[in-house]
Amino acid sequence: MDWSTLGGVVTIRAYQSSDHDQVRAFTCTTPGQKYTREPQRVIRDAPDEIANDPSDETWIAVADHPDVGIVGVIVYQAQPVGSEDPTTRPYIASLGVRRDYRRQGIATMLKTAAMLDMADRGIEGPTISLVNRRNIAMLRLNETRFHAIAERDLDDPNDDVITAAIEPVD
Ligand SMILES: CC(C)(COP(=O)(O)OP(=O)(O)OC[C@H]1O[C@@H](n2cnc3c(N)ncnc32)[C@H](O)[C@@H]1OP(=O)(O)O)[C@@H](O)C(=O)NCCC(=O)NCCS
Repeated sequence: MDWSTLGGVVTIRAYQSSDHDQVRAFTCTTPGQKYTREPQRVIRDAPDEIANDPSDETWIAVADHPDVGIVGVIVYQAQPVGSEDPTTRPYIASLGVRRDYRRQGIATMLKTAAMLDMADRGIEGPTISLVNRRNIAMLRLNETRFHAIAERDLDDPNDDVITAAIEPVD
């Protein structure tokens, strides 16, 4: 998979096993924003979780810079609607971009690629994600790029439930 490039530089592509060490060490926390630690943990754990459970419908895409390596990562999955219900829906488990590569559209491209990939895989419906209510960067991205709907998460008052359609705005 080679979905798109940023100015001919950054390639958005599927994770490969040779990316393992880079993803395990991937850093996307922001000083002073504790809520950025959990997305980083999810990203770092994803390669081994997928390797340990090949039946798990979880995927990783990376933004790969030819000189510096992986600068962005998204983890996405077919999430079961309920324990008894075989229906799944598109779900973004985590998304992060290295601090020195932010505000260049990389997260937008990763989320777009993940949504298109899940649609290709036949996972139907709008894409869901949970975003901490203080995470202005991610909330703004969803609002400006995906016209997403944000609603209170009834299970966790710290989070909003974000519902995004497949078509990005630009
Ligand atoms: C959230 C995050 C993934 C955004 O990555 P990014 O590559 O910088 O995002 P994009 O460049 O695609 O941003 C697109 C738009 O989102 C909004 N946006 C992004 N970062 C923003 C910020 N810090 N403040 C306000 N708006 C922001 C803007 O509208 C931006 O467009 P603009 O740059 O033209 O103004 C990145 O800040 C990050 O890794 N944060 C830490 C991890 C995290 O919180 N992940 C999300 C939880 S799962």
